[in-house]
Amino acid sequence: MQIDIHPGDITQFTAEAIVNAANSSLLGGGGVDGAIHRAGGSRILEECRHLRKTRFPDGLEAGQAAATTAGNLPARWVIHTVGPTYASSPEKYAQKAPILASCYRTCLLTAAELGAKTIAFPAISAGVYGWPMKDATRIAVDTVRDMSAQVGEAIDTVTFVPFGREAEDGYRAALTG
Ligand code: APR
Repeated sequence: MQIDIHPGDITQFTAEAIVNAANSSLLGGGGVDGAIHRAGGSRILEECRHLRKTRFPDGLEAGQAAATTAGNLPARWVIHTVGPTYASSPEKYAQKAPILASCYRTCLLTAAELGAKTIAFPAISAGVYGWPMKDATRIAVDTVRDMSAQVGEAIDTVTFVPFGREAEDGYRAALTG
């Protein structure tokens, strides 16, 4: 399983599955969530509403993942996941860091189940949810690397799509570390 970095706007990136850093409502928001819904169009929201009516009446929990159509995006699926909000206290951090890792794990398992050979991730929780970029990208890279034995047969390429220099530097440092 190849791990790449491709700086830019994830809504312009071609992959079979594009990961969305959503919130538990699954009904859209700002940041990459807003960008994906705007670029992907209303079919994504229609399917998100259906997910809320059926599988997730109380919303998608942090660390979980759920797939919808990618609408007009150059992708087949959007895999929505909800990152944890950052908390600096050691106790809270110890509780939340594994939840951020599980976002990557559950998205990769979902992609493998769907048969997606390529998947692209934004830096989950590193925007509105306040997770320090360096740590967020380290957790992302470490978790994807740890998963390669489990999903490496099913998934050919995982691409991190940094939106800005800080994210790009974070991924590059994590990948060479
Ligand atoms: N392409 C790639 N990355 C992007 C894009 C884009 N078009 N737009 C934003 N990003 C980056 C941000 O710069 C950040 O590094 O995605 C990362 C995650 O930031 P957010 O989108 O703010 O996501 P998050 O921190 O997980 O917060 C989720 O914000 O947008 C709302 O509805 C969302 O409530 C949820 C919360």
